[in-house]
Amino acid sequence: MTTTSPPFRDASRPLEERLEDLLARMTLQEKIGQMLQLDARDDLDYVVANKLAGSILHASPERMLAAIELSAATRLGIPLLTADDCIHGHSFWPGATIFPTQLGMACSWDAELVERMARATAVEVAATGIHWTFSPVLCITRDLRWGRVNETFGEDPLLIGELGAAMVRGYQGAGLHDPTAVLACAKHFAGYSETQGGRDASEADLSRRKLRSWFLPPFERAAREGCRTFMLGYQSIDGVPVTANRWLLNDVLKDEWKFTGTLVTDWDNVGRMVWEQRVCAADVEAAMVAVRAGNDLVMTTPSFFEGAQEAVRRGLLGEKEIDDAVRRILRLKFELGLFEDPRAPDPERQRAVIGCREHAELNLEMARRSLVLLRNDGVLPLEGGLTADDRGRALANGQVRTIAVIGPNADDPQAMLGDWAGASGQVDWMPDGHPRETVTTVLDGFRSAVPDGWTVTYARGTDIERLVPDPEGPEYLDGQPRPPLFTPAPVDDALIAEAVSAARTADYVVAVVGDTVALTGEGCSTATLDLQGGQVALLEALVATGTPVVVVLLHGKPSVLPDAALAATALIEAFNPGMRGGQALAELVLGLIEPSGRLPLSVPRHVGQQPVYYNQVRGQHGERYADLTQEPLFVFGEGLSYSAIEYTDLAIIDEVVALDGVVRAEVTVSNTGARPVLETVQAYISDLVTSVTWAKQELKAWQQVTVPPGDSVRVQLRIPAAACSLVDAEGRRVVEPGAFDLLVGHSSRAADLLRARFILSQP
Ligand code: NOJ
Repeated sequence: MTTTSPPFRDASRPLEERLEDLLARMTLQEKIGQMLQLDARDDLDYVVANKLAGSILHASPERMLAAIELSAATRLGIPLLTADDCIHGHSFWPGATIFPTQLGMACSWDAELVERMARATAVEVAATGIHWTFSPVLCITRDLRWGRVNETFGEDPLLIGELGAAMVRGYQGAGLHDPTAVLACAKHFAGYSETQGGRDASEADLSRRKLRSWFLPPFERAAREGCRTFMLGYQSIDGVPVTANRWLLNDVLKDEWKFTGTLVTDWDNVGRMVWEQRVCAADVEAAMVAVRAGNDLVMTTPSFFEGAQEAVRRGLLGEKEIDDAVRRILRLKFELGLFEDPRAPDPERQRAVIGCREHAELNLEMARRSLVLLRNDGVLPLEGGLTADDRGRALANGQVRTIAVIGPNADDPQAMLGDWAGASGQVDWMPDGHPRETVTTVLDGFRSAVPDGWTVTYARGTDIERLVPDPEGPEYLDGQPRPPLFTPAPVDDALIAEAVSAARTADYVVAVVGDTVALTGEGCSTATLDLQGGQVALLEALVATGTPVVVVLLHGKPSVLPDAALAATALIEAFNPGMRGGQALAELVLGLIEPSGRLPLSVPRHVGQQPVYYNQVRGQHGERYADLTQEPLFVFGEGLSYSAIEYTDLAIIDEVVALDGVVRAEVTVSNTGARPVLETVQAYISDLVTSVTWAKQELKAWQQVTVPPGDSVRVQLRIPAAACSLVDAEGRRVVEPGAFDLLVGHSSRAADLLRARFILSQP
């Protein structure tokens, strides 16, 4: 007897025909099961065989194959869609390439480099049976106390949008049929970062106009780039949880932006409407609200299975509404070709690509580009800069030096990686993090980069924290692990004395301070931005030795720096620079590479200055607090090189430009120093008179140019008039004709910018 396989299994048929055939065979239970994305750390039989989950997340390398096989054995054998947070590399695969955090990558201001990073990540991820990464994060940084600043591309909608779009391209590759493509996911849609006091998922105080002004543009960019999935934020806006926000999901995302992809909730968003936000009395109602608002996959709310069935039974939901969501899920599975090939883990490909040399090289390039030199009194590069030939061999003139690498983050692998990697706490199968040999700490980097004969010494100097178990228990109500409680470590005089003695006997100190994963991430917002534990005391003691101190900051987000850090001879912002960060930092300090990173956000002097983002709306009274300036310490776009740059001769080509035209300008960038420069030429506009209050200036374009010492480059800038827009009082994005200033220069700081006027006029 021959069994004919059903049409949905026939790859030669049109996708929509296969989809409808499959849908017609499915029971209501099977359909609702498809809408579940469950935690693969739970019992897999329960997840796949009982709840009929269509998707899983957080499957350990060991469990992935078992889950895929279980799904193949279900009645219709619908393949699983597997997902994880591979947000700066394949986070939880031992030895995978872990790049700088998104915030670190943003310092490169280089979309093409970010795209290559995402491509490399996709190649590694796809080899392990994962089809979907929950990345990029397109939240806009506002209050720096928020724990998830490290996951963002900073504070500017244009920069976020361009880097996010690049990531989407990199992940999704040549299209979903490409076996190395993974689905991208724009998250957390939308307004999740507009916290109150930095507190995670607090109600976002956002008008629709404010959303359209700053928060939505990066998401629109991702939708137009073809990002196939969006994840919805945890929070509510104006009383409505995003999960229930029909305006955002339907009117804006689907109708206006023509998004046809798939939506996934964040962790237990549907359950939270019942037990946390308390806007639904029971699971049945929450299921109805979520489906009706347009959600497709429901992350980790197992009770949605029963709730949605009951909602259909009671007539609260029509089966057609379920069908629409299921279609959007199955369509992805067909497009990925999972019915033909479930894209199971492939050990041979894993051996070839995971942590491979090519990706490690790319990671080093990204790490080098992510470092931002913020202060330098001339000590850097050390000894006037080594050449590549000097590295690893004795210097001809026999000059030997001692570098003391000091600090709690100087030799801490997790400080290189930051959140969402290895032992950062989200998964249970990597308690010791990534294999130690895959991570180059700052100490490792100096040991391998200094010339022969130089001495590298090390002292820890202080601890940052004493972690204690949270008395509330090891898990939150939603089942996610509850991080241990942070308490600051006391100043340890013996550790400081050891560090001081190392500093005294050294020619240079590299002091590596910052934060830890306990002060970073979901549920780990901070009340202050201070360096914790004995770090301030350590920096004071080191600076007091008189030995030149180079401060390196390894942290998830900007810290408020003590006077001692500002009195140091140099300051490097590194955020969490990834597995190769230690090498990149040593190369930078030794002058083997040029500093080129630029801040993607503003850095305050004091936590009370929040928020300090550069594109604030005009109209406030006064320019300072009574007790402090409002000026941030470092501004958006800032970053030094080892040379000197001058901007001259800003010229607007056509002073009057039609609304459908392009503003064209030129500026000369000269390198008047002795070393090459990779300069990020930034172009802002300021709309002089607006019908509504608007930002005093906004980034509209940037360009990166290499300028050799003594040379000049004439840089051409192009800004479409359509980009000179604002959101009017009715919430429409419009360009208002009139006078604008173009501001071009090295950073967003007024003193760094040349100014020229242009007029936008009706054609
Ligand atoms: C919750 C986080 O908010 C989200 O970013 C992440 O993708 C999911 N958990 C899954 O881990």
